[in-house]
Amino acid sequence: MLQKVDNDKSAHDGKSLRLDETALEAARTRAEDGAVTPGYGPWRDDIVKLLNDALATELVCVLRYKRHHFTAHGLSSPAIAAEFMVHANEEAAHADLIAERIVQIGGEPDFAPTTLLERSHADYDDSNDLKAMIRANLVAERIAVEAYRQMITLIGDKDPTTRRMLEGILHDEEEHADELKDLLEQ
Ligand SMILES: [Fe+2]
Ligand SMILES: [Fe+2]
Repeated sequence: MLQKVDNDKSAHDGKSLRLDETALEAARTRAEDGAVTPGYGPWRDDIVKLLNDALATELVCVLRYKRHHFTAHGLSSPAIAAEFMVHANEEAAHADLIAERIVQIGGEPDFAPTTLLERSHADYDDSNDLKAMIRANLVAERIAVEAYRQMITLIGDKDPTTRRMLEGILHDEEEHADELKDLLEQ
């Protein structure tokens, strides 16, 4: 027999679902901050830093995949070379999304080439051997997967829009890793 669901007020533990009116009022101020309201919380600088490190990672990944695309071309592997270019373009699209979000939350996207590699989580690679290329890309993707998973956990409900964007990128990086694993096994 089904138990009667306890819907009375005591189930709410004395709390109710109410908006924070003070934060709504505060949103009327500082209109120059655009999408960032005073209620955004104290984490903006940290989130911009996390996003800038991810931006650096994506840009290094674009460079590595492009290097591999053009050098793998002659290694009787046009299909794999083509796959590297597909990934390069997808990493570039990730970089654009991240840069756009950084600006939306009032930060500055860091494209400085001199510090790109030290800020990136993943490495550049200029292997000439096809298997070594695939392996380097797989390792880089696994690092990206781990970094994005950690970022998603850290951001939690502090910035749902950024979290959703990162979840979409994480999905792509897992797909990249999976494809590279298949290529390595061929
Ligand atoms: Fe990416
Ligand atoms: Fe990727």
